[in-house]
Amino acid sequence: MEALRIQVAGCRKCALAEKRTNAVFGSGSAGSRLMFVGEAPGYHEDQQGVPFVGRAGNLLEKLLARIGLTRGEVYIANVLKCRPPDNRDPLIEEIQLCRTFLEEQVSIISPLVICTLGNFATKLLTGRAEGISRVHGQPQEMPDREGTKLFPVYHPAAALYTPANLKALEADFDLLPSLLGETKAQPSLEADTKNDDAVIELKQGQPEPEQLGLF
Ligand code: URA
Repeated sequence: MEALRIQVAGCRKCALAEKRTNAVFGSGSAGSRLMFVGEAPGYHEDQQGVPFVGRAGNLLEKLLARIGLTRGEVYIANVLKCRPPDNRDPLIEEIQLCRTFLEEQVSIISPLVICTLGNFATKLLTGRAEGISRVHGQPQEMPDREGTKLFPVYHPAAALYTPANLKALEADFDLLPSLLGETKAQPSLEADTKNDDAVIELKQGQPEPEQLGLF
């Protein structure tokens, strides 16, 4: 994994390399049976070189706590390793150039379950065009990878903006322990993911400046 990290840090395959502060390789336990795949780094991830450290990451941590896990116990990566300007959507060419890094991460980790966060990770790894609102919460076999299930869920950033998506995300997360063949841990009070602060803040029209988009 370290050799791959070094390759990603030096990657100049696309123009995103020119503007990045840090490539964001992935973090967590490479021995985990559960892997999460998001879309691309946002402002905070680019600054710190770590995936999901902004508000979407904060919600992801709360969702993990809900099922008795910490981010150190799972592996977290993204489809793109570098931040697209202004958090725009990844381009098809960028995804095609970057996908081998994710594929190698998946091969090394060999997880039981890959939870795809949002449309880009879901479409890339399922190889299908169905969007997240149609397929979320439905486990499926990963193409060409026996023994690994894909489990699409909404992107946490989409749940920050829409309470109905948050409900769906929580319900889908609650299915993860049984997918992993475990009993659900009791959620702690801190693990409450209602995330009222975020919703109230957005209602007041004061989203975090750098995270106006899906990040
Ligand atoms: N959104 C993502 O998809 N990935 C990150 O690392 C942060 C926000």
